[in-house]
Amino acid sequence: MKSIGIGLIGTGFMGKCHAMAYGGVKAVFGDVTTPRLELLCDLDETVAAQKAREFGFARWTTNWRELVDDPAVDIVSITAPNGMHRQMTEAAASAGKAIYCEKPLALTLADGIAMRDAVQEAGVASLTGYNYLRNPAVIHAKKLIDAGVIGRIIQFRGIYDEDYMADENLPYTWRCRIKDAGTGTLGDLAVHLISVAHFLVDDIAAVMGDIRTVHENRPDPDTPGRSGRVENDDQINALIRFNNGVQGTIASSRIAWGRKSYLQWEIHGSKGMIRFNQERMNELYLYEAGGDPAVQGFKTILTGPAHPPFGLFTPAPGHGIGFNDLKVIEVAHLLRGLEGRETLYPDMNDALHIERVIHGIIASSEQGKWLQP
Ligand SMILES: NC(=O)c1ccc[n+]([C@@H]2O[C@H](COP(=O)([O-])OP(=O)(O)OC[C@H]3O[C@@H](n4cnc5c(N)ncnc54)[C@H](O)[C@@H]3O)[C@@H](O)[C@H]2O)c1
Repeated sequence: MKSIGIGLIGTGFMGKCHAMAYGGVKAVFGDVTTPRLELLCDLDETVAAQKAREFGFARWTTNWRELVDDPAVDIVSITAPNGMHRQMTEAAASAGKAIYCEKPLALTLADGIAMRDAVQEAGVASLTGYNYLRNPAVIHAKKLIDAGVIGRIIQFRGIYDEDYMADENLPYTWRCRIKDAGTGTLGDLAVHLISVAHFLVDDIAAVMGDIRTVHENRPDPDTPGRSGRVENDDQINALIRFNNGVQGTIASSRIAWGRKSYLQWEIHGSKGMIRFNQERMNELYLYEAGGDPAVQGFKTILTGPAHPPFGLFTPAPGHGIGFNDLKVIEVAHLLRGLEGRETLYPDMNDALHIERVIHGIIASSEQGKWLQP
């Protein structure tokens, strides 16, 4: 296949990120099928027309069903809010399109199961937007773990905090409503942390959660003097157990002042430790036990061409790649997956395991006991 038709739904934060990735992937990766930017969709005509021009799409529409059914569209990129993911996925699957859907999958676990089933029944390919797994530093961590550099894994500790809703006077948005967003920090941030835990350690088999909405009311942007009730979680903590018996903890907050993309995790091993922080995304920290105690300490590994696919962006180690580059790597994986050269991960079934964990944390918090998600 020389080229493949792209349909993009949504032109906000993630819509632009997908568009940049489709635009850049050929220049970076060279050997992938060329994305053909066919059709873009957003709710408002002026926005859709302007974004189609800016992102380089041939056509635009305000009707996502038209996009899904368009014969020139082979891949449907879903970057609309979470509440639309199920309908869009089901329609795209029955139209036989490959689906590239942003995380989290859906509002409820039942919706997530329906999406996974729709994709499997239609036999279409799917990929979900767990872009932090694409970081050359994270891929390198996996290589080090698999090579036994830190020995046997004995513990995972992870945090994903941001402060985008830390100001209690910020207006009420779709992210506060269960019918549009589903969960709060669980679906926004914690899912990314869980994706890393699943990738580097194993699937999570049991959870004991504690969740809380701290800022319960936010100003209604449409009606001065009124407020809207926040329906989902601001912060969570959970004890976890992996399938392979490893212990762990995860914590997440969308109201943690000062944290901007604090996706921080550490994996303790019997012979050392690996730790990482997305705010320093071009660095991986490694401690190896043994040797001269006088010079022992964590080593900072600056990513470079020794950590593929970093070198495809730049031949210069330590010069750094950025958040949007992770999406370029993800899109390259999508295109190679569709060419049959790589196995798409995490697909909708893998992503469903992540949803089971976040909904397990909610249920566990409500019931006050350990649960198997
Ligand atoms: N992978 C990541 O790192 C990451 C980061 C942020 C957001 N996300 C996910 O991406 C999705 C979108 O989040 P965002 O931050 O880009 O939101 P956003 O509000 O910036 O953008 C959403 C876009 O969808 C459009 N839209 C809404 N309803 C639509 C409809 N019915 N038809 C067509 N377009 C519609 C909106 O007009 C807007 O352009 C969410 O699922 C979110 O969880 C993922």
